[in-house]
Amino acid sequence: MRYAVLYSSGTGNTEQVARAIYAALPAGEARLESVGPDTAVPGEEVLFLGFWTDKGVCPPDVQKLLAKLSGKQVALFGTAGFGGSPAYFDAILQRTQALLPAGNTVLGGWMCQGKMPAAVRARYEAMAAKTPGDPKVASFLANFDQALSHPDQADLSAAADFARNMAAKAQG
Ligand SMILES: Cc1cc2nc3c(=O)[nH]c(=O)nc-3n(C[C@H](O)[C@H](O)[C@H](O)COP(=O)(O)O)c2cc1C
Repeated sequence: MRYAVLYSSGTGNTEQVARAIYAALPAGEARLESVGPDTAVPGEEVLFLGFWTDKGVCPPDVQKLLAKLSGKQVALFGTAGFGGSPAYFDAILQRTQALLPAGNTVLGGWMCQGKMPAAVRARYEAMAAKTPGDPKVASFLANFDQALSHPDQADLSAAADFARNMAAKAQG
């Protein structure tokens, strides 16, 4: 079987996950590539497509690639700044999966939390200064701090398990 692991990663979180997935696939059968605006449709039958969450869905470069696919077996993976709820990850995966044209098969999806830049915390702190005690801002700050350690070793190990499960599910 031939696998391509394609990913979009602005700050490295999704790339870390992509590398863990790539390393878990059978040696010599997989390829790793970063997605850009002009990424061509890969020749491999099975695609692991990785993305960072951009306003609730995969970013434009990945959307563009998804729209061009046909007859592929696709496993989706991603990272998101907000975590803590499987339903949140599921909703992002569903929105991303909906962009895949009919005629492709979705093998499955997996996501974990990914740290955000310090500028985001500074923005939350400015909000907190304006509206002291606002529980929503407090939850943003707590989430930011929780995200700081992700993806962690447990996430990367779960991503590798996901990769092996998807490879076992793929039809040759
Ligand atoms: C412009 C922008 C939009 C984002 N939108 C979301 C979002 O809607 N939901 C979310 O959970 N995280 C969002 N994030 C956070 C990133 O998806 C998250 O930090 C991710 O792990 C970054 O992955 P990367 O390091 O591979 O770029 C956003 C980040 C940026 C820069």
